[in-house]
Amino acid sequence: MPLYNKQKSLNLYLSERDDKLTSIRIKPPNAREKTMRIDLGNCLIRSFENGDAASIAKNANNKKVWINLRDRFPNPYTVRDAEEWIDLARCLDPESNFAIAVDGQVVGGVGILQQSDVHACSAEFGYWLGEAYWGRGIMTTVVRHMAPWYLKHFDLIRLYATIFAWNPASAKVLEKNDWEYEGRLKNSVYKDGKLCDQLVYAIFDQTKLKLHRKGD
Ligand SMILES: CC(C)(COP(=O)(O)OP(=O)(O)OC[C@H]1O[C@@H](n2cnc3c(N)ncnc32)[C@H](O)[C@@H]1OP(=O)(O)O)[C@@H](O)C(=O)NCCC(=O)NCCS
Repeated sequence: MPLYNKQKSLNLYLSERDDKLTSIRIKPPNAREKTMRIDLGNCLIRSFENGDAASIAKNANNKKVWINLRDRFPNPYTVRDAEEWIDLARCLDPESNFAIAVDGQVVGGVGILQQSDVHACSAEFGYWLGEAYWGRGIMTTVVRHMAPWYLKHFDLIRLYATIFAWNPASAKVLEKNDWEYEGRLKNSVYKDGKLCDQLVYAIFDQTKLKLHRKGD
């Protein structure tokens, strides 16, 4: 993909950041090897690879997945969309978006978007899974391992997730992992022609929290 397209995709991906890019940089492909690999038993968390596009598109091209995500997640989701996503994910530095793989196929994704300015201690945590893999405990496992992993490897104190109120399965995944319910953002989402509330959940790095709140 030409660099200007890559920058355009990055800007779209970061469109909710409120100022200049402070901590995420874009690097040319192959600038750094992407070798993330964590075996969680029921799935593998790993870097996206060039051969993943077909399985990503197969699992992502589903309105039941899209309805719970931002509109920047395409629908229909084509192999070309998947190729662009892989290219972007592999260029982000630090690498923060990973594939969820089962039996060699990419069946979902997990990632964070670090916030900026005074909110830079927080990152939005996001995830999706292909419908064929729902209900097997996969995302509960992913969140259990990846939330502490992000808090450890990034300069972050808080991870948060905003869940559309019509998505109780996602709320359950976070509750099972002891995320705190922080509140309801009423009528804050307009998706597929409908207004919807968002539920905010968060989890903290307790050690960093104690350190930084000392003296309150
Ligand atoms: C939400 C999603 C990530 C869940 O992944 P998953 O691997 O199926 O989740 P798990 O199997 O680990 O756990 C789901 C839990 O929700 C429960 N659940 C499912 N549907 C539910 C419903 N309608 N109401 C209440 N609980 C529900 C399940 O019973 C399970 O809880 P249990 O283990 O106590 O029985 C997956 O459905 C998905 O990717 N959906 C589309 C994209 C999305 O919503 N992303 C998150 C955006 S915030």
